[in-house]
Amino acid sequence: MKLNVYATPDSVQDKDLKDRNVVVIDVLRATSTILAALINGCKEVIPAIEIEEVINMSKNYEKDSYLLCGERNIDAIDGFHLSNSPLEYTADRVSDKTLLFTTTNGTRAIRKVVDAREVIMCSLTNVDVVAEHLAREKNDTAFVCAGTDGQFSMDDVVTAGAVISRLRDLADNLELGDLAVVAEVMYKNNNGNLHSLLANSTHYKRLMDKGLKDDIDYCLTLNAAPVVGIFKDGIIRTLDKVQE
Ligand code: MLT
Repeated sequence: MKLNVYATPDSVQDKDLKDRNVVVIDVLRATSTILAALINGCKEVIPAIEIEEVINMSKNYEKDSYLLCGERNIDAIDGFHLSNSPLEYTADRVSDKTLLFTTTNGTRAIRKVVDAREVIMCSLTNVDVVAEHLAREKNDTAFVCAGTDGQFSMDDVVTAGAVISRLRDLADNLELGDLAVVAEVMYKNNNGNLHSLLANSTHYKRLMDKGLKDDIDYCLTLNAAPVVGIFKDGIIRTLDKVQE
């Protein structure tokens, strides 16, 4: 099983995705938020690139069946129901709703990898179930990190490392590309101390400056949202629903 890690969506080419499983990671905060919504019972999440796209899509839904969700440059979007804070995605707000969701980097990364064999949402909050799913699938896998504004983001790469480290116990014959090796070493050397590792990273500092420490604490909690989210036909749903 070949495992490759790509530091940003722009560093992946279509040929790197063909016939592979793709794990998309935006720990701070888009994939953490999507997984919080899925575990709290939302019907589905539809990732969009532009704010206008979300507004246009909403015209196809019954009032009260959907929520407008997301952020621009970390801040809530005027007129939207929810921001990109995973803590807002409680069961009482999201249960059975369609979430029309746009973020600055995360939803772009998800939409970029549509041609993969299967696209899996990943964050520190679901590393174990992602590793178990990949071990069952036994396919070559590309980890695509959302990064921040086109730049490498340490939090995403260390999360790929967490999944790879768990896969060691679950699958044989892992073949790691160079960045996958770095990711695994980074995770193993900092397991249990992720806050210290990430405290100097750009996006962590930006979120702290905005007073979002509780979001960071949640996003760095291993397995807080143990659910597999699959992006298929433009929609993110739980694996159980996709297989129904
Ligand atoms: C993004 O997609 O750019 C991020 O999730 C930004 C954020 O922390 O809201």
